[in-house]
Amino acid sequence: MGIEAIEERYRELTPESRELFEEGREVNAGAAKGAYYYAPYPLTFRRGSGCELDDVDGRTYVDFGNHHTAQVLGHNHPAVVIAVRSQLSDGIALGGPMGVETKIAKHMCDRVSSLDRIRFVNSGTEASLHAIRLARQFSGKPKVAKFEGGYHGSHDAVEVSVSPNLEDAGDPREPKAVATAGGMAPHSVDDTIVLPYDDEESLERLLSRHREDLACVIMDPKAGILPQRPEFVRRVRDVTRDLGMIMIFDEIVGFRQARGGLQSHYEIEPDLTCFGKIIGGGFPVGAFGGRADLMDQLDNSKGSSTVFQSGTHSAHAVAMAAGLATLEQLTDDAHAHLNGLGSRLKTGLDKLFGDRGVVAHVVVMGSVFSIHFGIEEVRTYRDMASADKETGLAVFMSLLNQGFFLSQGLGMCAISLPTEGEHIDALVEAIGIALDEIED
Ligand SMILES: Cc1ncc(COP(=O)(O)O)c(C=O)c1O
Repeated sequence: MGIEAIEERYRELTPESRELFEEGREVNAGAAKGAYYYAPYPLTFRRGSGCELDDVDGRTYVDFGNHHTAQVLGHNHPAVVIAVRSQLSDGIALGGPMGVETKIAKHMCDRVSSLDRIRFVNSGTEASLHAIRLARQFSGKPKVAKFEGGYHGSHDAVEVSVSPNLEDAGDPREPKAVATAGGMAPHSVDDTIVLPYDDEESLERLLSRHREDLACVIMDPKAGILPQRPEFVRRVRDVTRDLGMIMIFDEIVGFRQARGGLQSHYEIEPDLTCFGKIIGGGFPVGAFGGRADLMDQLDNSKGSSTVFQSGTHSAHAVAMAAGLATLEQLTDDAHAHLNGLGSRLKTGLDKLFGDRGVVAHVVVMGSVFSIHFGIEEVRTYRDMASADKETGLAVFMSLLNQGFFLSQGLGMCAISLPTEGEHIDALVEAIGIALDEIED
């Protein structure tokens, strides 16, 4: 069939989505936000239920995107719907705390041993922005270190070397800081030190060199995308502690593998952690938290507080209620079910690719997964950047035609709780059919 024919089939199956996209782009810039867009136009959905989505053309998809991993319980989970309805009946936004933010904060502090206190915001972007400000204020130092390929949201301090062209990225052992988006403050790249993943020697060398200026190291462990060796993650913790730097762990794709978050899996205690996605139960949310002495910089009762964080909708009661209901469903049994499905997918895909002699690397971490074609192994951003993206996009589109919705390009896909083994087996089979279609 080939890639063109797969796209042609997509157009035939989804005329209403195409029309709505064309209508939308007249008034909504680009019609869809960056992460929603894929060529030739994204699907428009009508509704979601459990692990399924219906589009405006009347087609149904098994959802393996789950709203950028956030919808861990699938769509319209009764516990979340009940919690939201109950919160709505008390009031939507009353201009003061409603107590529900304390309930979810207690729940999270109980789950994650490094958390003494938390502050809620509206997005993962805001969480990393404020965590970095806090680290700068506390340490009195200006610079931030991040990993090449790591993503922490869209603000200037961290939109550096997120997906640089390899020609611009410099020496792999001393990556150059490259601005990711147009319009960033020109000094952003000067204040950011870029570290390679999976390289202890370079980590130590670069952090030691910049220790006088570095406030913090922020680490996105790229759950389900770029597998980190636990020893490497622990080394980041040890070196930052030894050099007196604050370690910020980005767990925005968190609570998908273990009750205590990714940090319990890696057996580390960061100084600060950023959260987002599932802790809002599908509503906009972010949070940062950690050591009491750091977080108390935000304590308004201590007079002129040194770090200011606010926001009209921060800790929005409906998001807090939905997030708490979601976390309460994530029992050890729920994690075991999700992780079991993740393993089943890994086994099925490894066998499929092995039997067919397809070069691909399947990364599964708990219930988050990615498929990288054209490479045997992915350990660093540079490996990831050299993968065969065309095949990834063609498989993604063939899967849409077959009734499976994944993340575009097959990076950062996710399994939700209502998913069963048969959905996983059907996905594996459909990927086999997609490869047949591409080869035809
Ligand atoms: C690891 C990581 N950090 C930060 C963010 C930004 O979160 P938000 O989109 O809520 O601003 C994301 C979003 O995908 C993420 O995956």
